[in-house]
Amino acid sequence: MIAVETGKLSYSYHDGTRALRDMDLSIKKGKKTAILGSNGSGKTTLLYHFNGTFLPQEGSVTVMGTSVNKKTLRQIRQKVGLLFDNPDNQLISTTVYNDIAFGPRNLKLDQEEVLKRVNRAIKMVEIAELQEKPPHNLSLGQKKKAAIAGLLAMEPDIMVCDEPFSGLDPHAMGQLTGIFDKLVARGCTLIFSTHDVDLAFAWADEVIILKEGRILAAGGTTLLADRNIMATALLNIPLLAQLFKDWEQLPRNAAEAFFLLSANNANRVLLEKQVSEKR
Ligand SMILES: Nc1ncnc2c1ncn2[C@@H]1O[C@H](COP(=O)(O)OP(=O)(O)OP(=O)(O)O)[C@@H](O)[C@H]1O
Ligand SMILES: [Mg+2]
Repeated sequence: MIAVETGKLSYSYHDGTRALRDMDLSIKKGKKTAILGSNGSGKTTLLYHFNGTFLPQEGSVTVMGTSVNKKTLRQIRQKVGLLFDNPDNQLISTTVYNDIAFGPRNLKLDQEEVLKRVNRAIKMVEIAELQEKPPHNLSLGQKKKAAIAGLLAMEPDIMVCDEPFSGLDPHAMGQLTGIFDKLVARGCTLIFSTHDVDLAFAWADEVIILKEGRILAAGGTTLLADRNIMATALLNIPLLAQLFKDWEQLPRNAAEAFFLLSANNANRVLLEKQVSEKR
C-alpha cells in the first residue's frame, strides 16, 4: 500500500526559485524511506508537502489516498507528524514537558491520555531528567530528542523527519533508529531526509535521490552503490560499497557486505557468484 504519492508536483518560492520540478513519486506504507540529495536539492521543500505545511502549487500530493488541500489539512495533520530540521522551530513552550504535551492537548485528549502519551514518549527517548527544563537551555542533541518526543506523543501513522539524526551522538543515534524500528514494526511509515549515505545504505528500506528539485533515482538501497547516480547527485557512495570498489559485485546492503567480507581470497569468487545468483 502507498503512504504518500505525488503527481507532477512543482513548487517555486516567492523569489522565483524553482525548488521542486515535476516530481512523481510514491512512498510505501510501513517502510523506512530515506530522501537524499546535496544541499538545496529540495528535500526540505518536498517533506513540507507531506503534512500540508506547503500546499501544492502545481500537481498533487496524496496521503493514504486523501488528497492534501486546505479542506483535508486537519485530517492530514492527524495522520502525518513532521519533525523540522531545526528543533528551535518546533519547541515553543516553557518546559520540555509542556512542549511534548502541546500536541496531544491540542487534540483535546483527556488529561489522563495526555499524561500517558507524554510519559511514554519521555521514556522512549530517555529524557526524563530534562522534562522540567526550558527547551532553549538544552543542547542541540537534547532539543532534537525533545522535538522527537513531541512527535511520538502525537502517535502519527506517518512520521516525516527532516534530518532527524543530525547533531545526535552515536548512542542517541542508535537509540533513535531503535525507536523508529519499533514504530515501523507496528505499521508506522518513516520518511526521513539525511546526508548520511552510510546510514541510509545500512538501515533504510527504500531511497529517493534528488538533484536540483527533480527525482534522480528512486528504489532499493542498492541505488546508493551506483557510482554514476551518486556522482550525478554529488554524493559519495557508502563506505561499505567503497570497500568493495574492486569487486565485480557490490553488496546491496549491510547483510550482503558482511557475507562477502567473510570470504577469503580462495572462496571469494564462489561467494560473489552466490550473491549474484541470489539476486
Ligand atoms: N524561503 C525560501 N525562499 C527562497 N528560496 C528558498 C527558500 N527555502 C529554500 N529555498 C531554495 O529552494 C531550494 C531547495 O531548498 P531545500 O531547503 O528544500 O533544500 P534541501 O535539500 O533541504 O537542502 P539542505 O540539505 O541544505 O537542507 C534551494 O535552492 C533553496 O535555496
Ligand atoms: Mg533541508
